[in-house]
Amino acid sequence: MPIACSLFPVHYLRSMSEQLSNEILLQAAQQFGTPLYVYHAEKITEQFNRLTAAFSKSDVKFFYACKALTNINILKHIKTIGANVDCSSINEVKLALHAGFPPSNVLYTSNGIAFEEIEEAKNLGVHINIDSLSNLEKFGKKFGHDYPVGIRLRPNIMAGGNLKISTGHDKSKFGIPVDQLPEILKLVEQNNLHIKDLHIHTGSEIKDVEVFVKGIEVLFDIIPHFKELEFVDLGGGFKVPYKKGDASTDIELLAEKVKEAFNSHPYHRPLQVWFEPGKFMVSECGYLLTQVNVIKETEAITFAGINSGFNHLIRPMFYDSYHRIQNISNPGGEEKHYAVVGNICETDTFAWDRKLNEVREGDYLVFYNAGAYGFEMSSNFNSRFKPAEVLVKNNELHLIRKRDVFEDLLKNQIELSSL
Ligand code: LLP
Repeated sequence: MPIACSLFPVHYLRSMSEQLSNEILLQAAQQFGTPLYVYHAEKITEQFNRLTAAFSKSDVKFFYACKALTNINILKHIKTIGANVDCSSINEVKLALHAGFPPSNVLYTSNGIAFEEIEEAKNLGVHINIDSLSNLEKFGKKFGHDYPVGIRLRPNIMAGGNLKISTGHDKSKFGIPVDQLPEILKLVEQNNLHIKDLHIHTGSEIKDVEVFVKGIEVLFDIIPHFKELEFVDLGGGFKVPYKKGDASTDIELLAEKVKEAFNSHPYHRPLQVWFEPGKFMVSECGYLLTQVNVIKETEAITFAGINSGFNHLIRPMFYDSYHRIQNISNPGGEEKHYAVVGNICETDTFAWDRKLNEVREGDYLVFYNAGAYGFEMSSNFNSRFKPAEVLVKNNELHLIRKRDVFEDLLKNQIELSSL
């Protein structure tokens, strides 16, 4: 059970579309310690409402790609607002079911998994997208026409913020390449497979809505081969802004373009469209709160060394991602340049040269856009603890994950008595 810790007056939240105020973030840091992840439930709702409003004139369903953030309370919140869930492992499927989603609202888009895991998902009754010829064949041999499934295709489209997060190009491991359609059709026919959807996901941080249109066009050549199709799944990948003026996916334009593409196509027939947004749903709702351990002045640069590292937020080091940083305990301080670095015994630089209000030891630095792939990609590297997580909902702070303790580091280790 989350613990409701304190009540905050409404003005702390300014308005729904704005970020949490410095006051509430400082309060959270002081109450629960740092490093700390804080999530804002109403921001998730706002993002979801924007999607549903934009697509209100189309038959569209949204499945939150929960790999971005799987805390069970986030999943429960997502359920209360009416979204569905997309999973990328059987354990995510089990978490979604544990959160109370009915199997019909859970999708498992698989990638390179053992057939046993697909069988397990089938036994749990969730939707499944199969991404290899070999698993499609095994599925067909075992279940024939009995259990409708989807096929994850690789559309051979290059898209996404950088190569590491591009998944639809012609060298990507994801999905069955569209040029293998004859092999797919052979398997479908031989095994009387019931194919109910075609899936593509071209990458993450796709600004250009034309990428989705291109994907639809690729699918339209394939759709007529599948007589029992009910929907097409266009994956996730909407880009969110990381700083003021940053480009993001124009969701309203996307809705228009998708509708147009389906309406104008000669093969058009009523197919529902599914999307799997991860970052769009939870990136901006999340904050990583940290504290400054050391200020190190050197000839070239001043380092602000914080009590975190890439073990807590790996995106800057792994993808060169930009995360806005603010010194919330000295917001009026004179602006100076800093390298913001972690305490991991490796180079773990969050920002190489960042203008911040004067940073002093003990100050609180907050990282924005930390909701998606933040805590979720964290680790215990250097035997450091993973941060605690807090959910702000209805102006209340709820602790939703305890910080690790020393025993957690030893929890699954087997200490041999004979050594
Ligand atoms: N659907 C599928 C099949 C996916 O593989 C992904 C993300 C999504 C949906 C959701 O994509 P989103 O809307 O979040 O962009 N860790 C990286 C992002 C990796 C995305 C992996 N797949 C990052 O922090 O940028």
